[in-house]
Amino acid sequence: MKLNPFEKKLVQHPLRFWLQNHVEAPLLTSMMPKPMPSCERALEIGCGFGNGIQLIREHFGAGHITAVDIDAEMVAAAQSRWQARPQGVKGLSFSVADATLLPFANSEFDIVFDFAVFHHIPDWQAAIKEVVRVLKPNGYFVVEDLYRAAICNPLSRRLFEHPQQNRFNHSELLTVMRQAGFEIVRDRNAFNLAGMVLAQKVLR
Ligand SMILES: C[S@@+](CC[C@H](N)C(=O)[O-])C[C@H]1O[C@@H](n2cnc3c(N)ncnc32)[C@H](O)[C@@H]1O
Repeated sequence: MKLNPFEKKLVQHPLRFWLQNHVEAPLLTSMMPKPMPSCERALEIGCGFGNGIQLIREHFGAGHITAVDIDAEMVAAAQSRWQARPQGVKGLSFSVADATLLPFANSEFDIVFDFAVFHHIPDWQAAIKEVVRVLKPNGYFVVEDLYRAAICNPLSRRLFEHPQQNRFNHSELLTVMRQAGFEIVRDRNAFNLAGMVLAQKVLR
């Protein structure tokens, strides 16, 4: 589900970028094994305005990043933001794609990132299955997302547009990830409002 105009403003606010780079990124990287495993080929689902790309480059050392979003406006904005930067779009690919139907081959990526996307996807369980499919064996999945309690309440309903059915909390997310073929390496649960998960695709 695409963002409403208010949430579009919010996700590209400099404060959101600051929080992502200075609070979320250190918390997420602290969950990764040391030394950092190879993140040569990275995929970001729901890239929005493209700030996650900076985080993935700087904190995870990704070689090539593929960034997708269901909203063509977001993809165009992310692409032009990166074109305007000194590093440019070298090592980056952008495309419009639905996380529940990813246009990639099996086992294509070393690492996949979800920064606040699943809570927008009606069938988020299908998106998890797609992430397992496109990850290499032993590949990592980094998730940072919002839970039912954060989005299914009168204030959030008034301000934003999120699916209200089939939402999830921290333990429900972990259960579905395990069933799909992930081992949970580390996780953090912030009062069942939001959480972070580092998962690894289990060899079967
Ligand atoms: C809350 S924004 C987060 C954007 C970005 N990841 C960030 O952290 O700033 C959620 C993003 O997910 C995208 N999205 C929603 N449903 C999607 C789907 N099924 N597949 C891919 N992207 C989706 C939206 O268009 C939006 O850009």
